[in-house]
Amino acid sequence: MAVTADSAGEDITMKKNNDIKTILNENRMFAPSDEFASGSHIGSREEYDTLYHQSIDNPEQFWDRIANELHWFKKWDRVLNSENAPFFSWFDNAKTNLAYNCVDRHLGSALRNKAALIWEGEPGDQRILTYWELYREVNKFANALKNLGIKKGDRIAIYLPMIPELAISMLACARLGAVHSVIFAGFSAESIRDRVNDCQARMVITSDASWRKGNILPLKNIVDEAVAECPSIRDVVVVRRSPASTFPCHIKEGRDHWYHRLIESVSMVCPAEEMDSEDLLYLLYTSGTTGKPKGIIHTTGGYMVYAYLTMKYVFDIKPEDVFWCTADIGWVTGHSYVVYGPLINGATCVMYEGAPDWPDRGRFWEIVEKYGVSILYTAPTAIRTFMKWGAEWPAKFDLKSLRLLGTVGEPINPEAWIWYHKIIGGERCPIVDTWWQTETGGIMITPLPGCIPAKPGSAGLPFFGIEVDILTDEGKPADAGYLVIKKPWPGMLRGIYGDQDRYKNTYWSKWPNVYFPADGARRDDDGYFWILGRVDDVVNVSGHRIGTAELESVFVEHKGVCESAVIGVRHEVKGQALVAFVTLREEFKVHEDFEQELADWVTAKIGKFAVPEKIIFTADLPKTRSGKIMRRLLRDIADGTALGNITTLADPSVIASLKTKYEED
Ligand code: WTA
Repeated sequence: MAVTADSAGEDITMKKNNDIKTILNENRMFAPSDEFASGSHIGSREEYDTLYHQSIDNPEQFWDRIANELHWFKKWDRVLNSENAPFFSWFDNAKTNLAYNCVDRHLGSALRNKAALIWEGEPGDQRILTYWELYREVNKFANALKNLGIKKGDRIAIYLPMIPELAISMLACARLGAVHSVIFAGFSAESIRDRVNDCQARMVITSDASWRKGNILPLKNIVDEAVAECPSIRDVVVVRRSPASTFPCHIKEGRDHWYHRLIESVSMVCPAEEMDSEDLLYLLYTSGTTGKPKGIIHTTGGYMVYAYLTMKYVFDIKPEDVFWCTADIGWVTGHSYVVYGPLINGATCVMYEGAPDWPDRGRFWEIVEKYGVSILYTAPTAIRTFMKWGAEWPAKFDLKSLRLLGTVGEPINPEAWIWYHKIIGGERCPIVDTWWQTETGGIMITPLPGCIPAKPGSAGLPFFGIEVDILTDEGKPADAGYLVIKKPWPGMLRGIYGDQDRYKNTYWSKWPNVYFPADGARRDDDGYFWILGRVDDVVNVSGHRIGTAELESVFVEHKGVCESAVIGVRHEVKGQALVAFVTLREEFKVHEDFEQELADWVTAKIGKFAVPEKIIFTADLPKTRSGKIMRRLLRDIADGTALGNITTLADPSVIASLKTKYEED
């Protein structure tokens, strides 16, 4: 575990001093209206307390009851098995299928003809799939996959833009028991290659192109480049997204298949595979403290139950709602709250392909008005961007259909919270600030909308079954320190693909029997949690996790770079931004555009979203006598705050020159 005094302990104190100053002044409470509360699934604090205590005192009974609301081909022998902790298992020996629960389960009711997915493409094209139509499309594609030899347990990488085929592909995999690994379409060829090779995927599903701000990006070319170095890939399925006549796409005979051809003549009935509750459902790669992204494992039964219940209660979902989660499905939020959570609840879900400012800055609000969106779930970075763009954009549209708002991915500052509340929510919509992670599968801490008054900037109280605490380094309970989860929960990760030691060491070894998410937090007198951000070397840029070690190793792979240190600094809109300090090889001749060259290098190695805000070239890096880079000092310099204790520096003059250098840039 890379939590050291340098990266974590001091960081918490530092964050505490800065962040707590703002949030300590934040005493405002926003309770839901009586009307909202009385109509909601959990409408009073008493009800929350009762259910919460049941879920903590008797978790097996609680989850047994919830799981019974879903379809199982065979029920479990026991709810929770902790014999092999931290390798917990849920719903032992039960058989189910997540795609069946998301789609087939609804076909016998009025939901059959209800919109499951309302999709809008960036150019303005639109597709609405009812549950029946989704059933048909999922079955057809599942049969097409079968025809290509896909079977239970095969890994399939999905590299698609936000188009209906992305959700259909995931559901088709789940239907067959194939394990999907969705790769965000902003990742580079090298990132695809590494993920595919790590999980030995045998197929990639992609599209010829994707739309972004009016431009067509050639996705398939990126996949071609990646799979040239992926011996496990046998087939590539290509969805046509561009106008066929204008955008050429190379199809490699024998390996590449057009999606629309594959589904042309297949049956629209494909039985759902009976999956064991603990069979793999998906892998999702996320950044950690070392150079290599980890393949987070989620399995079938527990994830399903947890996505179902969090969706139902946190978003208070009702049959008449139109739910819009703006996250890309390439991240976990899209898995749990664009695809699985909404569908398993029989909800209507909006999916939008493109940029929020295309063709203009009113696009999101136009979509809310057009489809009558009633629940909007987005990221603080997006809200801060909308704030910058000005209230005149949402003012052009009728947003009265909205009744509930949510945020996710990063701490929200009270100012952005209030803006969201006033300008978007018209002061009538509760806001659920939801704390969770790729690893947790679903929402863990949030003020449930009908019963817990929200405090701007606080993620509120734990969800059912989630026992949260805050510990000091020594493992003592405290009001501020490390956030921990003290009980297993159904949606929890089951490990890291191919590296279960890393799973144990990363999440379960800081204190015995306690899950450590690597976030700092504070608890106030009302028991509300205030998340202070990561305490490891992961930076959260616009809600995207980027491992500083991963980025550092990318820099030093460049022939001109000798050493590098990457840190996160505060950013007004993105929450945090990356700053890279780079030392160059003496013999290397730097040209004028070298900073751009390094930015392109990062784009090629990881993706554009990982390019640092600033790259600072320096003669040396500040190090302790033992040679450890003093990140805290770099952070102080980049933040422009006072210098810390530099007596441990091998060469204190480095700092002075760094500081000057930073201020010049
Ligand atoms: C951060 C995204 C503050 C946190 C669902 C966590 C948050 C990381 C919040 C996980 C929130 C997520 N308030 N911080 N409401 N939600 N985070 O895996 O640092 O992409 O550890 O999952 O985002 O990011 P991930």
